Amino acid sequence: MRIRKKKHLAERLDGVREVLLVAMRDIPNVKLANLDKRYIDFKELFLNEYPVNLEIGCGKAGFILECAKRNSKENYLAVELLENIIVMGAEKCLKEQVKNVRFFNCGAEYLPRYIKPNSISKIFLNFSPPYPAGTYENRRLTKTELVLDYKDYLIDGGEVLQKTDDKDFFEYSYNQFEKNGFIVKDISSDIESGKIENIQTEYEKKFRKLNMPIYVLSAKVNKE
Ligand SMILES: C[S@@+](CC[C@H](N)C(=O)[O-])C[C@H]1O[C@@H](n2cnc3c(N)ncnc32)[C@H](O)[C@@H]1O
Repeated sequence: MRIRKKKHLAERLDGVREVLLVAMRDIPNVKLANLDKRYIDFKELFLNEYPVNLEIGCGKAGFILECAKRNSKENYLAVELLENIIVMGAEKCLKEQVKNVRFFNCGAEYLPRYIKPNSISKIFLNFSPPYPAGTYENRRLTKTELVLDYKDYLIDGGEVLQKTDDKDFFEYSYNQFEKNGFIVKDISSDIESGKIENIQTEYEKKFRKLNMPIYVLSAKVNKE
């Protein structure tokens, strides 16, 4: 039974190859992978020079597909660790004929292999697993090593936008960005008041239904 399920997933992943640029099963361990650069030429990929944005931990990709539909003059890269989840987003992308999104099935740690420095305008971190501080902190998507990677990918003036329901994780991330030279702002109230456009993610919809507070930050990079 389990074997049949896996086989079915492999077929579905093959079916989305057109939009799936990186597949977890095709890459070696992270240290070897990041030494062997395979930078992606975005102009060649999207056939335009529009800004490129990145979401890490896209889940079923509802957020990024909506961003892409609303902003046809921007391009989007969606990164997700779990292949059974990313396949759903990639299938939706093909079904709805969204042309400005591509998917990476890998962990955030592998991205230095594919993303050139100074090439990304915005990075979205939406409801990344908060993992408790201490033992599991090393898995957080705002640990120092990754924050420095984000700084590297972003163009001058580029920005990380992070949403979470976890106050401790929000405060940790805020400090991490500030400590590493970003200009950080808590924009939670601007999102609530509608001053800044908000596209709700799958997790966000669930949390909002439960009236849970949502914390949002903007971390801008100044490279001059
Ligand atoms: C709680 S879900 C949120 C999904 C979506 N962003 C949303 O808001 O509905 C977090 C997602 O991040 C992914 N994730 C966690 N760590 C990751 C990593 N290191 N690299 C890429 N994706 C990761 C998980 O597999 C999961 O799908």
